[in-house]
Amino acid sequence: MELDWKNLGFGYMKTDYNIRSYYRDGAWTTPVLTSDETVNLHIAATALHYGQNAFEGLKAFRGADGKVRIFRPDENAKRLRSSASYLRMAEPPVEMFIDMVREVVKANERYIPPYGTGASLYIRPVLFGSGPQVGVKPADEYLLIIFVSPVGPYYKEGFNPIKVIIDRDHDRAAPLGTGHIKAGGNYGASLISSEEAHHKGYPSVLYLDAREKKYIDESGAANFFAIRDGKYITPKSHSILPSITNLSLMTLAEELGLKVEARPVEATELSTFEEAGACGTAAVISPIGSVFDPETNHTYVYNNGESGPWCQKLYHKLRAIQYGEEPDNHGWNLIL
Ligand code: PLP
Ligand code: COI
Repeated sequence: MELDWKNLGFGYMKTDYNIRSYYRDGAWTTPVLTSDETVNLHIAATALHYGQNAFEGLKAFRGADGKVRIFRPDENAKRLRSSASYLRMAEPPVEMFIDMVREVVKANERYIPPYGTGASLYIRPVLFGSGPQVGVKPADEYLLIIFVSPVGPYYKEGFNPIKVIIDRDHDRAAPLGTGHIKAGGNYGASLISSEEAHHKGYPSVLYLDAREKKYIDESGAANFFAIRDGKYITPKSHSILPSITNLSLMTLAEELGLKVEARPVEATELSTFEEAGACGTAAVISPIGSVFDPETNHTYVYNNGESGPWCQKLYHKLRAIQYGEEPDNHGWNLIL
C-alpha cells in the first residue's frame, strides 16, 4: 500500500473493513467485518434524538521490529463501558471489545503506516442506541462499530507548541454532568468554542470549571498538565475525561523522577508553571507555548514558547514504548 504516509493529516480515510456487533434481545451478536461505510438506521433511533452515543479513540503502531502494537485497548474498553453505563446503553464486554479491535486492525493491516513515518492507525469505536424510542427512554438495541483510519499529527503544529485561549463564554460539561465520559454530546457542545478560538487564531481552548470558573478543566479535547518545581501537575475533576495518555504520562513522569500531583488546579497557577501541555491519543503531547486570558488581556508564556525539556522527555518516552523502541515494562501494548 503506497500512501503519502509522512503527510497524512488527522482525518477519515476509507479502509477495507469496519467491524460491527449489535446488542439485541439482551445479547451481543457475533462481530462481523464489512466494507460498508454506512449504516441503515431506524428514524426513531435514540442516538439521533436523545444522544445515546459514545465513542473511543486509540491507536495501533507499526514498531521498529515490524510488529504491530495497540496501545492499552483494555483501558478504552473500560472507559466505553463507563460511558455506556452513564448513558444507560448496553456495555460491551471488555474481551469482545479487544477482540473486535484486534480483528479490525488485522483486516486493515495494509493501512498501518510504516515505522519511521510518525503516522499511526487511529481506531475509532462508536456505540449508539439504534433501537427506536419516542419517549425519553433507553433503546432496546445498540450497535458497536469500530473503524480505523491512518492518521498523522492532530494539530498542524505537530509536536510544536500550540497557542491556547481561555474560554469563559462556554462550558464543555456541567459539574455533575457528562464530562467524565466520552459522550458525543460533549463534542457537539464544544464545537462553537473551538470554532470561535480558531477564528481568533488559537488551535485550542482552555476550559475552566463550569461552577466557579476558578479551576483549570481541560484543553480542548485533551487533558491539561503542567510542570513546576520537579512536579507533574494535572487537574482532577468529575467534569474531566480520564485520559489514558495522561494516565500513562503520570506513570512515566514518576519513573523519570517527577512528583505527580493530580488535584484541582486553580487558574491562578497559570502564572507559576515552567511548562504546560495538552495530552491525548490524537496529539500524544502538544506542548502549550502560551495561554491567552481575554479577561485580563494577559498571555502566559511557557519555556519562551518553545517545547520544554519535560514535554520532550515525556513525549519521546511514550512514543518509544508505543513504537517498540523501548521495553514495555507495564504491559501496555497489545501485540497483534
Ligand atoms: N479529554 C477529552 C475531552 C478527550 O476527548 C480526549 C480524547 O480521547 C482526551 C481528553 C484524551 O484522552 P485519551 O488520552 O484517552 O485519548
Ligand atoms: C484525543 O484522542 O485526544 C481526542 O480528543 C480525539 C478527538 C478526535 C476527539
